[in-house]
Amino acid sequence: MNERAIDDCLALLRQAEHVVVFTGAGVSAESGIPTFRDALTGLWALHDPMDLATPAAFERDPALVWGWYEWRRQQLQSKEPNPAHHAIAHLAGRVPRLTLVTQNVDNLHERAGSSQVIHLHGDLQSPRCSVCATPHVLGPDTDLPSTAQGSRIDPPACVRCNSPVRPGVVWFGESLPEQALQDAFESAGLCDLLLSVGTSGVVQPAALIPEVALQQGANVIHINPEPGQGQYSGVTRIQGKAGQVLPELFGRAFG
Ligand code: OAD
Repeated sequence: MNERAIDDCLALLRQAEHVVVFTGAGVSAESGIPTFRDALTGLWALHDPMDLATPAAFERDPALVWGWYEWRRQQLQSKEPNPAHHAIAHLAGRVPRLTLVTQNVDNLHERAGSSQVIHLHGDLQSPRCSVCATPHVLGPDTDLPSTAQGSRIDPPACVRCNSPVRPGVVWFGESLPEQALQDAFESAGLCDLLLSVGTSGVVQPAALIPEVALQQGANVIHINPEPGQGQYSGVTRIQGKAGQVLPELFGRAFG
């Protein structure tokens, strides 16, 4: 790790009044959950998102889409939060104010102890009716079907209107949840330090969040093992894996 960048970050962390932590798929990579755009292993390297993550795909083949998200939900059941999720949860007790904004649809931040997580892209645990939006109550995780990747599973029917239930995630071409979007942009505009962790920064409007923080005069630190990732200029970069960098950084700042 670049010692000069680290020293800058330690000072910024100790001074910060309001920290926003903005996470992407990279924060869950060390838990064994694939990212989207890593060249060989990313979900979008293996699948065409237009077949799985659009309203049209669900209309065309609901069993394919529901089966794929059930496979991801089942996969999550055997995964655990990693040191990055735990470090972020602990940071909340060390700084005056912390807002956690994630693009991830897993629940690993919550399972590590973070609360009031802003999920910009929805989450795997909150399916709803595709027509009337009535929430669908999932059975206990132990009831999850044993699903292989690519299995087709018919979606359940809505208890209210009998239409197919859909995953509670944001698909390409859809709007982000209004309240989450508003809260995320508001905190980016008010914070004095934003940590952007494990995101390629290519999906809008989420990718604008670090830009907003920068424009409002906050310091932005970008943490990613790949030097070229993250389209942001004017940020401090720390090259490394979230599960190594965050515990070390927060441990040195407050330990
Ligand atoms: P991406 O897959 O686009 O980017 C993951 C980032 O994590 C890359 O920059 C990797 O270099 C980095 N990374 C990999 N391992 C890491 C580690 N151990 N520690 C830190 N970083 C690591 O994922 P996102 O940026 O989250 O949207 O993608 C944004 C959105 O695109 C997702 O929310 C999803 C996807 O389409 C929807 O599904 C709507």
